Amino acid sequence: MAVDNFAHKSKSWDMNSKRVQNAKGIAEHIIENIKLKPNMRIMDFGAGTGLLSYFIAPYVETIVAVDNSPSMLEVFKEKADEFQCKTEVLKLDLSKDELDEKFDGIISSMTIHHLEDSKALFQNFYNMLEENGFIAIADLDKEDGSFHSDNTGVFHYGFERATLEAIAKEVGFKNIRFKLASTIKKSHADFTVFLMLAEK
Ligand SMILES: C[S@@+](CC[C@H](N)C(=O)[O-])C[C@H]1O[C@@H](n2cnc3c(N)ncnc32)[C@H](O)[C@@H]1O
Repeated sequence: MAVDNFAHKSKSWDMNSKRVQNAKGIAEHIIENIKLKPNMRIMDFGAGTGLLSYFIAPYVETIVAVDNSPSMLEVFKEKADEFQCKTEVLKLDLSKDELDEKFDGIISSMTIHHLEDSKALFQNFYNMLEENGFIAIADLDKEDGSFHSDNTGVFHYGFERATLEAIAKEVGFKNIRFKLASTIKKSHADFTVFLMLAEK
């Protein structure tokens, strides 16, 4: 059976106010930069307990929460009544599973550093989008490996924006741009979080 790297964190995930603030900051930048519509069906990749989904929900019809952690998705499901849109939950590991479905957009917060092959992931995102669909992907800018206290399951210590831009361009994305979405302040350092936006 697959290991659930988040099993020991899921119940207390939402109690960390820095995480909530980070997700809120990312959502505000998504809302400001993407024309979300009330008939949209959106995937939240690595949705976890739904921190990002929660802030995007009032602007779309459906959010499909995709995650490979049963424990995180359990917390998501417990909160289903609080989301102001329809929600669906899919337990999938996008580093190996495929989903034969198309979305108007894919959002994601703090997840893509957990997948080793970024090019395969962006190709997967591209394939799962409707024509002109968007991605809005937030994660850490390049860091020194000190962001996580335990780097189990972490394949990238953040990202160089130029590297992700080249990958996205290669798989076919257009209008690729980056915003500074938030800054997470820890006692030993500050870590910036980018929001990458692009269209199919
Ligand atoms: C750092 S958490 C972020 C959760 C949420 N997006 C947030 O901002 O609070 C990363 C999430 O990505 C999920 N994840 C990691 N690797 C994954 C994979 N290969 N496929 C699907 N989900 C994955 C984890 O289970 C976890 O819920």
